[in-house]
Amino acid sequence: MKVSVLGYGTVGVGVCEMIEKAEGLELVSVLVRPGKADKPFKVTSIDEIVNDPEVEAVVEVMGGVEPAYSFVSAALAAGKHAVTSNKALVAAKGPELQRLASEKGVAFLFSAACGGAVPFLHNLALAVESDEILSLGGILNGTTNFMLDAMQRDGMDYADALKVAQALGYAEADPTADVSGLDALRKIMLACAVAYDKLPCEGFCLEGIESVTAADVKHFQSKGLVLRLLVRGGMQDERLYAFVQPVLLSASSPEASVLKNFNMAKYRGVNSGDIVLIGQGAGRYPTASAVVRDLSDAVHGRRVMMKPSCERVEADNSVVSCRYYVRLSASLADALPFEEKELDGELCRGVTAPLAVTDMHARVKALRDKGESVFFAAMEE
Ligand code: HSE
Repeated sequence: MKVSVLGYGTVGVGVCEMIEKAEGLELVSVLVRPGKADKPFKVTSIDEIVNDPEVEAVVEVMGGVEPAYSFVSAALAAGKHAVTSNKALVAAKGPELQRLASEKGVAFLFSAACGGAVPFLHNLALAVESDEILSLGGILNGTTNFMLDAMQRDGMDYADALKVAQALGYAEADPTADVSGLDALRKIMLACAVAYDKLPCEGFCLEGIESVTAADVKHFQSKGLVLRLLVRGGMQDERLYAFVQPVLLSASSPEASVLKNFNMAKYRGVNSGDIVLIGQGAGRYPTASAVVRDLSDAVHGRRVMMKPSCERVEADNSVVSCRYYVRLSASLADALPFEEKELDGELCRGVTAPLAVTDMHARVKALRDKGESVFFAAMEE
């Protein structure tokens, strides 16, 4: 299969190298920014690729919704397969792109957009053919996992841990998407679309790791606890839930053993039971390996990951409840329904009674809107 690659950044360079060594794949051209076309195979106009009858597939690794959406649409409309690692694109425009691909009978595959090298969407898309998926979740952001691990095991502070994650090529161009949880949220949106034929597009609860401090991490360590940023999605009472929040786990839990930039993707099928996949969730070659795996899948006839019938729905996160660990000012010790709490100088640290996820996120937002500084994390079930 003859392939053009749109984008030549961290992942694009890895994809080009891997295509050149892969059986059944051939690199035709690479779309680069104006002024960067320093080799004959590099082109600066998408039209050259879309109008090239030799090109059978495009790989989009540019990131962002535009111009990626216009470029991928044009390639699909011209009858070329499309593979992307761009979760922002699929979260925003996946159903439109899938419908266009299905009309044209070409592939639209995006397993690299969720979990880096981990074959999460790849396996999920196969599993839904024969099983009912009860729930989805895990660690789906390599940057924040790397940071939390570095803060815990190496005693690094937040800013240094972020700098190292960026230098290693794990973070998004704007790392706010990683630390705010948005990147992980987009990934659980894609997983829900594959598992349930429903793309959640509003009603989310989203809490990242921006409020955690080195002192918090030290405190958790002293209690034998480990902090991880977890996603959850699933169906409960016919409602789709999808949310991202930090979770405090016992040091012996499986998630606590997920280190560095690794991800842990989980799903529970009625018949399969729990399936857990672990691997590098970010970085040049792990992500490129998923792109090239999708290209090989397209060569072997796979066309669909998200069905063309996929509809957008509102998430309902009131159907899940958690107990929450909270750190806030001692003057707010009665602001939440704590089951236990301790005062530590000017701070109060406590654990709440079970609260619906929507309720807890709204309560903390109200406190922050008043200028209060609050950290919270769900307690492991
Ligand atoms: N910034 C993403 C992460 C890259 O850290 O997981 C892989 O999707």
